Amino acid sequence: MEQIKEEISRLKREKNAIILAHYYTPQEVQKIADAVGDSFYLSRLAKETKHSILVFCGVSFMGESAKILNPEKKVLLPEPQADCPMAHMASVEKIKQMREKYPNLAVVCYINSSAQLKQYADICVTSSNAVAIVKVLPNSEIYFIPDANLGHYVAKQVPEKNIIVNDGFCPIHKELSVKDVLLAKKTYPDAKVLVHPECLPEVVKLADYVGSTLEIIEYATSNHAKQYLIGTENGVLFELKRKNPNKEFYLISNQLLCTDMKKITLEKVRDCLRDETGQVEVSKELEEKAKIPLDEMLRLGKVIQKEIS
Ligand code: 13P
Ligand code: SF4
Repeated sequence: MEQIKEEISRLKREKNAIILAHYYTPQEVQKIADAVGDSFYLSRLAKETKHSILVFCGVSFMGESAKILNPEKKVLLPEPQADCPMAHMASVEKIKQMREKYPNLAVVCYINSSAQLKQYADICVTSSNAVAIVKVLPNSEIYFIPDANLGHYVAKQVPEKNIIVNDGFCPIHKELSVKDVLLAKKTYPDAKVLVHPECLPEVVKLADYVGSTLEIIEYATSNHAKQYLIGTENGVLFELKRKNPNKEFYLISNQLLCTDMKKITLEKVRDCLRDETGQVEVSKELEEKAKIPLDEMLRLGKVIQKEIS
């Protein structure tokens, strides 16, 4: 283990590489990463980094977005087979039909999507900026792809718009049930319930706080409660506990495990850095088209941030 870590550090220095990891990756991967974050933070970093090689410890849509935002750089995925099933859960045909039906429609695409889908969208969003972005869009009709649950959550927060949601879902968050939450609340009645907006609307309703992985971590860190019930993938527990050693965190269900994120290992990080394998390739045409909604998200994200501060 120590030897692999040393090899990774050496290769990183020699190749001017940076390692980015999502909070859902295994903790040993989070420990060696230069930056760990949620999808929005990582995509902003990917755009701004000066390193020539980016190792993206996450699922394939994350590496793909990093490559599109940084086409001149080498983006390596330690496990190219790690994929997010939801990233493919929308139909191009349906998007076209919706555009015909609603001429002033904005197609809003959750960043958890393939570039193949993104190219048909007007703007991308992440779980941390979806509500704010949909609110400021000039369009009153929105087609939200691919995640139905995040779509429903946004629709609830932005009632003034007609938000039509597609029927995709995260197979991990979708499995969290009302029963699971009620049972956990019974065991820990004083605990705050924090869930990701990819959970079902009836689960979201029971939460004290709904947010992206980073927002959940920030909420628990600044809140005074001692106990928290966590309704998102178990990888976030590492950062939650690291930042809050005196607080208690309980995963609401043991099923909250993204098997794709867990495919990333230290050995695979070392190997891809050493051999420069797992390179993300996106055709020029697709890159140009899918970059538009991603850039638009980053541009609007900055405007919204300025207005808040
Ligand atoms: P975040 O947007 O919170 O990083 O979540 C990404 C994700 O894959 C949720 O399942
Ligand atoms: Fe995709 Fe769900 Fe895994 Fe997130 S947790 S990467 S949405 S399968």
